[in-house]
Amino acid sequence: VTITILMIITAYLAGSISSAILVCKLRGLPDPRTEGSGNPGATNVLRIGGASSAALVLFFDMLKGAAPSYFSYVLGQDAVSLGLIAIAACLGHIYPIFFNFQGGKGVATAFGAMAPIGGDLALCLIATWIVFVFLTRYSSLAAILTAILAPVYTWWLDDRFTIPVAMLSLLIVIRHKDNIKRLRIGEESKLSRKKKAST
Ligand code: G3P
Repeated sequence: VTITILMIITAYLAGSISSAILVCKLRGLPDPRTEGSGNPGATNVLRIGGASSAALVLFFDMLKGAAPSYFSYVLGQDAVSLGLIAIAACLGHIYPIFFNFQGGKGVATAFGAMAPIGGDLALCLIATWIVFVFLTRYSSLAAILTAILAPVYTWWLDDRFTIPVAMLSLLIVIRHKDNIKRLRIGEESKLSRKKKAST
């Protein structure tokens, strides 16, 4: 129990390190909380700064979910504890203690935190997200639909993790409420990247 509590706190703190805000600061880009969709996540950094900045954000946001989760798995934590640790990492990303509790939507961090479930789930989720982005061009809608399917895949691949994954999915869908509103009124912006300035 002590290890579980320590890992929950560590995961929350790791999740609170906002890669989007830090990458934008280090690269002299505008703050993602005030530009584009206002969301400090890889999608918005793609809009603001282009592909390489977005890739860095995606990598570090996944890492901060994967590291505490996988480390806890190696320490022998059970599925329920791993679920709580994964949720803590996402809550850190969504409500970061280091950044005024103004965080992102938890998609990349949740994806990373599902690492202990294995590569099959990761492949299913990546494929699903890509197919929906290809069909709709909306990163947010693809993330919402992938989150809804994640517990179904998990139930199929490793039933022990279905409930923890369903809780992560619920968190992600709720966090996309503004995107859902924009999608309904046709005002959501499609996935796009910053064009290189032509000289
Ligand atoms: O992962 C966040 C994505 O689903 C939506 O991002 O910037 O379009 O609100 P954004």
